[in-house]
Parts: sequence; structure tokens; C-alpha cells
Amino acid sequence: MPLVTSKRLLQRALEEHFAIGAFNANNMEMVQAIVEAAEEERSPVILQVSQGAIKYAGLEYAAEMVKIAARLAQVPVVLHLDHGTDFNQNVLCLRAGFTSLMYDGSSKPFEENVAVSRKIVEIAHACGIPVEAELGKVAGTEDHITVSQLDALMTDPDEAKTFVELTGCDSLAVAVGSVHRMLTREARLDFERISRIRQRVELPLVLHGASGVPDEGVREAVARGICKINIATELNKAFTRGCAQAMQAMPDEVDPRKFLGKGKQAVKEAVREKIRLFGSAGKA
Ligand code: G3H
Ligand code: ZN
Repeated sequence: MPLVTSKRLLQRALEEHFAIGAFNANNMEMVQAIVEAAEEERSPVILQVSQGAIKYAGLEYAAEMVKIAARLAQVPVVLHLDHGTDFNQNVLCLRAGFTSLMYDGSSKPFEENVAVSRKIVEIAHACGIPVEAELGKVAGTEDHITVSQLDALMTDPDEAKTFVELTGCDSLAVAVGSVHRMLTREARLDFERISRIRQRVELPLVLHGASGVPDEGVREAVARGICKINIATELNKAFTRGCAQAMQAMPDEVDPRKFLGKGKQAVKEAVREKIRLFGSAGKA
């Protein structure tokens, strides 16, 4: 089926208290693995492309691979821009047929974040495309952040309410304790904060950096109002390890498909597990 937008899918997730996985895809095998996993679990799915993936594959390849996968799929697929850091990147993705956008102005002052988010929302809505905005900052492991620094970067619930009103965004990425690119699952979320944001903001909330969040943390976050969960590092890990194990097991093999296929299989298993954890299995 053709791509769908994230609007109605996330609205339903909000009403029915589950979350939709937003999985980062960096190559064809990952795109196929994510969509096949979603089909096997009968789940809607968001495939997201970061600016890094766009730089790696090129915007057209990145977009068209997902469109082809969606066209062949029996479940709803969204093509989402992940962490678009400027206005132009969002416009380019809108033109390339993305069905969901993100502007990440979290490193900018509040007023600038509002102004750019608002501008993107206006043009995207004119085309019927929803926009995720971010308030508070989800740091990366490379920032070597301390606990008190992490605390200071978290989303303020009252500010979130004002931000949503001023920008008109469709979903909100919140900083609630997770950290991007964690290799272990030790992040401790501030569940109370999620609930306080939820009380003030009626939109679907988005959890970034979810590779580092343990399963119980994910379940609790979903129960408190998280509707979209971003996973990248865990899939990169699965793909790389799948390929590496195959290379070790077949040192004389020269056909790359033998290795890439194992990477794909590992990603597929990881995505199926997440879909079940998020509660979206059977919701397609
Ligand atoms: O936007 C993408 C995500 O927030 C992924 O974070 O690499 O820690 O899973 P992760
Ligand atoms: Zn993120």
C-alpha cells in the first residue's frame, strides 16, 4: 500500500495506550528487515531516516527504498525524517515525499525553536504532513553527561504546554532521561515527568534514545503516554553483529549477500521483539 502519514497512527496509539516503533534504516537490508518484521507482527511501522542516513545513501535512495517497501507491504508504513536540524532539510524531505517530518531545535534557544518549528508546521500542514518537534534535549553518549546535567536538559512540563500551543506541532519529542546511542540498557526514565507532561499536553509524546531503556522502563513509559519510540543503535548493533558472526563462521566466503542476509535476519528479530514490547502487534 502507499505510504501513510504518522498522524492517524499516533492518534490511535494515544487513544489505545500503545506505542508505534520508529526504526532507523540505513540501508536496503534494514528497510526490508523492518517492514518484514512489521508484516509478521501485523503492526503499523514508522521507518525513519536520519540526516546521517541521507548523507550516506542520498536523499532519493533513502526515500525511494522505503516507498518501495511500503508499496509491497500489507501493513501501514510511514516515511519519517528523524532529527531534521534545519528548515531546508525538512522542505527537501517534504518534496521527496516523506509522510512525517521532524524538526529538532532542541539545541536552539526556546524562541528560535518555536519560530522554526512553527514555520515548518505551516508548510507541512499545507501538504497534509504532520511534524514532530522537540523540547528539552536528549543528549548522546558522546556528550559524557553527568546525572545533574541530564536533569537540567529534561523537558519542563509547563514549557511543553506553551511550546505545543505556539508551534502547532503534531507530536512532541521529550527529554525524560534516555540518552542517544547507549550500548547497554541502563537508562533510568523520569516517569513522573512523563505523566506531568502528559497532563498538560494532549499530543502523542515521543521517546528518543530508546535503545538504552530496559523493557520495564519502556512498558511504564508507554502506560504514561509515550506513543512513538525511536530505536536506532540496537538495530545497528544487531546488523553489525549478524554480519560479523557470519564472516567469522565463513572466513573463505566472498559473496557479501551471505553476510548481509544474516545482518538483515538479526535486525528483523530485534524489530519483532520491540513491536511486541511496544504493544503494536496486531494493530495493523
Ligand atoms: O532518533 C533516533 C533515536 O532517538 C534512536 O536512539 O540510537 O539510542 O536508539 P538510539
Ligand atoms: Zn533521537
